[in-house]
Parts: sequence; structure tokens; C-alpha cells
Amino acid sequence: MDIAKYTPFKRTALPGRTWPDRVITQAPIWCSVDLRDGNQALPEPMDLDEKMAFFQELVRLGFKEIEIGFPAASQVEFEFTRALIERNMIPEDVTVQVLTQSREHLIRRTFQALEGCQNAIVHLYTNISPFFRQVVYRNTLEGVTKMAEKGAGLMTELAASRTDGGNGIRFEFSPESFSGSDPDISVMLCERMLDVFAATPERPLILNLPATVETASPNYFADQVEYFIGRLKDRDRAIISVHTHNDRGTAVASSELALLAGAQRVEGTLFGNGERTGNCDLITMALNLYTQGIDPGLDLSQLMKTRTIYENLTGMQVGERMPYSGDLVFTAFSGSHQDAIKKGFDYRSEHALPVWNMPYLVVDPTDIGRSYEPIIRINSQSGKGGAAYILQRRFGYHLPKNMYADFGAAVKRETDRLGKELSADQLLRLFLQEYCVTDSPYRLLSHEISERGTAGHSMVRFSGLIAYRNRKYTLKGEGNGPIDAFFNAMQQAHIDGFSFMGYHEHAIGEGSSAKAVAYIQLAYGGNQVFGVGIESNVSIASIKGIISAINRALTQEGK
Ligand code: KIV
Ligand code: ZN
Repeated sequence: MDIAKYTPFKRTALPGRTWPDRVITQAPIWCSVDLRDGNQALPEPMDLDEKMAFFQELVRLGFKEIEIGFPAASQVEFEFTRALIERNMIPEDVTVQVLTQSREHLIRRTFQALEGCQNAIVHLYTNISPFFRQVVYRNTLEGVTKMAEKGAGLMTELAASRTDGGNGIRFEFSPESFSGSDPDISVMLCERMLDVFAATPERPLILNLPATVETASPNYFADQVEYFIGRLKDRDRAIISVHTHNDRGTAVASSELALLAGAQRVEGTLFGNGERTGNCDLITMALNLYTQGIDPGLDLSQLMKTRTIYENLTGMQVGERMPYSGDLVFTAFSGSHQDAIKKGFDYRSEHALPVWNMPYLVVDPTDIGRSYEPIIRINSQSGKGGAAYILQRRFGYHLPKNMYADFGAAVKRETDRLGKELSADQLLRLFLQEYCVTDSPYRLLSHEISERGTAGHSMVRFSGLIAYRNRKYTLKGEGNGPIDAFFNAMQQAHIDGFSFMGYHEHAIGEGSSAKAVAYIQLAYGGNQVFGVGIESNVSIASIKGIISAINRALTQEGK
């Protein structure tokens, strides 16, 4: 690696910058550039039908400004623009945007593509970076400025010659490579554009400031935006827009800080698709606002549906740790995180909390169409609380707290043995296998429970037949409840050394299929042992829980 090859980015001098003290209080105007910047970056660009389906999803999400392509650049883009217009696919409150370079034949073709379109933004761009000018355009600053002015002039003429007199057309200008260029040059060129496009406060020009390549940290970009806005004459003739790319991984942060610096509009894409490392991810940015209590102006309540549509149409994949939409973002593997989340949910269900406040989860997953269920997944790093949480939320088993550690240890043994995480179904199977051991060595063959009582006092009698390997024992016992009666009866089968420590029971399921689950804790040889019984009758569930605990203890001892 050769650090001498690289030079640090030059900072714009901005003493007294104000953006660090500002806060974002409202969502910007969003403009999706998925169908242009996003599409041009796909290994296999979308065909007309795919673009159409994508457009419809963008409309459903609530985008009011959508860049649909570069119609003069290819036949597909031209036809897609025509199809949207001719099939009447553009809702009245949606404005489509098209991109063009400042070349006469491209501008004319762009206006042809837009014939009959009610509301459109024609977006002109010119690269202003000195390196680009020298190497790609081989032109001077004056030459590039003239080229942009000429294009803008033609656009104004062509708009005015439309049957609507240009009413349905707005303009946008991007000084491409804004963040990598001298901001004074951007100001000079953009002021020229305000004049040529004859922008007014009533018909402002969108001045779109791109970080075409992200080369510095977001605070540098915010400085550039604040500097630009501060120097621009007639600020009210412009809507300031930003268009950030993600080369350093901070496109969202750059756009957020740009809002603090005075930007009003943000261009970007769903899930950050775009050239190289992508564009600003508008979903992340919108949900970041949402989690601050700011209406994002986009409906992201079915995020996973949006993700599926995006993946199917673009062939791209959303990463597992992508904010909000990745598979793993509502999943905690670590035991301490799982424990805290479980406590957070329990607290939430016990208290009517008006605001979202949950350990480790910045957003309520249900708000964006995701579920609580996969929040906790179980692997060998997981703690006792996580496994108990899944049994409770997925299957309705409320383990007593003093059983968490015991089950947690069983889960750990199993995940270590398998060397991978357990699914929720595997976890339930493990729980039932581990604690419902009602067949061996002891098995209840028949039983009868009767109760006699006077006010304040009742006596329960248990009688039954129990098998121990190939022997059978008749049991009879009395007690103040079924557990006590069974415990006393057990002596006759020579089941000694067990004492009763704890009992917890609840119903599972509903209506006629409801069952009772009994969790039994016994002491044996100085250790505690748990057993679980599940039966439609609560007394039998408890008795089976006792038998399970005994069987487990004896099996562990090798008896
Ligand atoms: O990244 C960029 O600079 C662009 C412009 C055309 C706005 O996509
Ligand atoms: Zn771009």
C-alpha cells in the first residue's frame, strides 16, 4: 500500500458555519433516481416492463418526483418515457424527471420524448471538475459554461414552444462533481443558469449539488452546501437539492448534514442502488427521520414487499445488515442483547407506553411490515432469555424464570453439538424432548383422581398404575391436592429421594383444544430438576410433569 499516492481533501473555508447547530424538522422533497442512476448501474438494466413495475412501486411509496431515465440516450429509455405518457401511467400529482447532457440533438430528442406529458422536470448536467474538464471535455471553464448556457437556452425555447406554453415543464441543473470542484465556480455557473432559465421564486430552478464521487467526510459536504447557499445571489429563485454517492459509505449522512446546511430536496435510490457503491439510500434516510418523530412523507409500512419487488426487478440483493431492511437487523444473537430485548417487550406489554423505547431496536419492526418473531435467534452465543422469549412469543410457553438457566444450558449443548443456530421449531422440539419425558423409565398407565371436602378443607385421592421398565406398581395416596396425593402415592413404587420445590402452570391454546402446561421443579440428591407435563386436564399435566422430572433425574444418573 502506498499512502504517498493520496492527498487529503481540501476543506472549504467556512468560519462561523451554522449547520452543526441546526436540527432537521421536516422531510425534504424526495426525488427517486432509481430508474436512471440506479438503472444505469445494473449489470443488466431493467427492460420496459420492469421499469414500469418499478415506477408503480415508487408511486405507491409516495414519491412525487421520479427521474425516469435519459430518454435521448437509448431507445428503451425513450420508449419507456413514451409508454408512461401514452398509457396514462403518471398520476396527476407526480412529476417525472428526465436527464440530458447539454447537446442540441439530445435536448431535442428529450423534448420529443416528453410530448403530451403533463408535468416534467428536464434535468441538465455539466461536469465542472477541473480534472474532468481537462481530461474528458478538453475544454476551458469558459467553454463549459458556454456549452451549459447554450443547452439551457434551447431547453427554455423548446419548453415555450410546447402546446402548454411550457407550463408543465420545470428545469433542474446539476454542476456534476460539485463536491470535488471549487464551490465558487459552482456558484458562478448556477447563477448563470438561474438567469438563462429565467428562474423566479414562483418558478424556481432546481439546483442539484452532486457528490458525484464521495471523497470526503459528510461535514465537508455540509460546509460546501452551506457555502454555496450563502454565496448564491437570489437564493429564492432556486430549490437546493443534493445528490450524494456512497464511495466512502456515508452518502446518507452527507445528505442529512446537507439538509442542516439548507438543502430542501434529496435525490437517491431505494436501498442505495447506484453507480459503484451506490447512491444515497432514501429508505434509510426516510426511516432515520421517522425514528426522530418526523413524517418521512413516504409509506414504508410494507418494507419487505418493497424489498422483494426491488430484488426481483433489479437482480440486486439487499445485504443482511442493511439498515431497516436487512434480514438480520431485527435479530439479536448475543445473550445479553436477547435478555434486554425480552425485558423491553415484557415491560412494554405491562405498561401503556406512548413512545417507542426498546433496548437495541431503533424502530418498532411492525411499523415497517416486519415481525417481532425473528428478533431473537438462537446460537451458541445466545443467553437463557432468548430461548425463553422464542418459546413464549412463538409458541405460548411461559417458562418460570428459575427454569431459564436450565433450558439455556440445554440450548447451548445443542447449538454446540450442531455447530449452527437453531430455528424456532427446532427450539420447541428440543424443549419438548428435554422436559416432557413421560415414557421411561416410569410411565403412567392409568389413573383416577377424586376429591372430597368440607368448607375450607379438601382431600384429594390418587390411585393409578405405573410401569417401571417391565414391572407395574399400583399407587394409592392422599393429599391436600393432586400433586401432594401423587407424591405420597409414589412411595409405593419405591420412588424415593425427591422433594417438591416449585410449580407453575398456564393454559396454552384456546377453546376446546386448550391444554394445561405444568412446570415442575423437584430437588434430588442436592440438585434441582425440572419436568414439564402437557395435558388437557391440569391435574394430570402436573402429575406428568412430576414423572418427567423424575425420569430426567434418573436418566441423568444413568438409572
Ligand atoms: O452523480 C451525479 O453527479 C449524477 C448527475 C447526473 C446528477 O448522477
Ligand atoms: Zn449520480
